[in-house]
Amino acid sequence: MPSAKVFFLLAVLGVTLHCQVLARPQKRSTKGSIRVVGDNGDFLPRTVIPTTYIEMKRTKLLRGQYSYTLGERITGDQLADQQEDSDDFPAARDVEATISYPTSSTGLTLTYINILVEQSSEDGKAYVTQGGINQKFADILVIANATTHYAHSGAFYGY
Ligand SMILES: *[C@@H]1O[C@H](CO)[C@@H](O)[C@H](O)[C@H]1NC(C)=O
Repeated sequence: MPSAKVFFLLAVLGVTLHCQVLARPQKRSTKGSIRVVGDNGDFLPRTVIPTTYIEMKRTKLLRGQYSYTLGERITGDQLADQQEDSDDFPAARDVEATISYPTSSTGLTLTYINILVEQSSEDGKAYVTQGGINQKFADILVIANATTHYAHSGAFYGY
């Protein structure tokens, strides 16, 4: 027979769950550099990739964790910049993120770029769309399709 104590606990649990649901952000498209493309987004997906884009090397680290790299560390280079962003979606979405180096006026000459990406799905690629290794700037495009979660941490090394 349920006691008053049980009712109290159920009420507390109910309120807690309700608050968690309310607190969950219901963002639809753009947050920072991350945007939803395709039918549910504000932009068309990039089905044609310009030949000038440089595809980054993709390595699967864990399920849902990928690293995209370009270039190589050299003696004397250093971490020049690190940028992070993330977003969650109520249903699977095709997502594009852009990351630009430098964020301030002058950048170091880049040697190595490493972008760590988390997504709930497998389908993804990353490109350097402008600049890159041996240059003082770089624009990165990350594509993550059919994902409910997206996060990146981009590291730029240079001298
Ligand atoms: C992502 O979806 C787009 C649009 O359907 C498709 O063109 C592309 O090949 C997919 N995968 C990647 C990694 O871009």
